[in-house]
Amino acid sequence: SLPNNVTIIEVGPRDGLQNEKNEVSTENKLEFIHALQASGIQEMEITSFVSPKWVPQMSDAAEIVERVHKQGRQFVLTPNSKGIERALQVGAKSVAVFVGVSNSFNMKNINKTTAQSMEELKPLITNLKQQGYFVRACISTAFHCPYEGQIAVEDTLSLCKEFARWGVDELSVADTIGMANPQESYALFSLLLREIPDILMTAHFHDTRKMGLANIYAALLTGVSRFDTSAGGLGGCPFAPGATGNVATEDVVNMLHTMGVQTGIDLNLLCKAVSIIAPCVSRPIDTGMFRLYQIQ
Ligand code: HMG
Ligand code: MG
Repeated sequence: SLPNNVTIIEVGPRDGLQNEKNEVSTENKLEFIHALQASGIQEMEITSFVSPKWVPQMSDAAEIVERVHKQGRQFVLTPNSKGIERALQVGAKSVAVFVGVSNSFNMKNINKTTAQSMEELKPLITNLKQQGYFVRACISTAFHCPYEGQIAVEDTLSLCKEFARWGVDELSVADTIGMANPQESYALFSLLLREIPDILMTAHFHDTRKMGLANIYAALLTGVSRFDTSAGGLGGCPFAPGATGNVATEDVVNMLHTMGVQTGIDLNLLCKAVSIIAPCVSRPIDTGMFRLYQIQ
């Protein structure tokens, strides 16, 4: 059976814009974030404190955190100690670290092996938890890797368990290149919920092969009730070739609402938020619900 309520973690302002070719102004980003808040979204990745040389799109992270209206849980991504330091300096309260199960992907994304990233993160996470911060761990290439191919389920499980031992509040388990199918989604999330029951378990699907909604439905059946999605279906990691956007928030919300699953999000106001960012980005937005919103 399906859960009565699902929590949407909106990742559009971060995952959605980190790979965008156009220069999106800080003003436009803030307007987008505030419109998303107005639609009822309570959890959001708002930016990332990464190297401005690697990801210039996120170089205004400090200004975003300082100027954003405080509402709900607002995550910032941080890859290392420098990122965490920059985030805490401007008052971020909820931090998302990210690591690839695949070593090759982690090298391309963070310039460290997975083991080196874990070694660096362990004391940082312990410290953050002691100080009362909310910590989310994003697990990239949990199913497939653009460089290494299929990822062994045991490898994903053991990385997730390690974060759980360190006391993170949430795991966000990602199909980075949108290659998982619903059977794989069902199998992995069944296993993770069984092995790591006492943690917030979130699924993060990219929609490269248009299996995002099906993968979410499969994860719902295992008991997952938290999903990372991106308004307008924007997104993609610059270091994962071929990856397109996340599954679109408006299409996920519509699917859930029509099945009687509540999200607390107003679909019309959500589409209005998409209409704010649409003229700022280079790619056309053609999600099902945004198309209907535009012709109504
Ligand atoms: P590096 O070049 O190896 O860094 O990059 P370094 O430690 O050698 O330092 C080089 C310079 O960068 C130094 O400055 C550092 O201070 C600076 P300099 O002395 O030359 O003036 N530096 C930083 N500056 C700002 N913020 C920082 C930072 N760290 C070092 N945090 C690094 C290593 C991790 C920084 C780089 O590889 C990086 O920024 N990577 C981030 C890549 C990224 O943002 N990827 C996308 C997000 S993850 C994702 O999308 C996946 C997800 O959606 C889930 C999924 O779908 O799979 C979450
Ligand atoms: Mg992603």
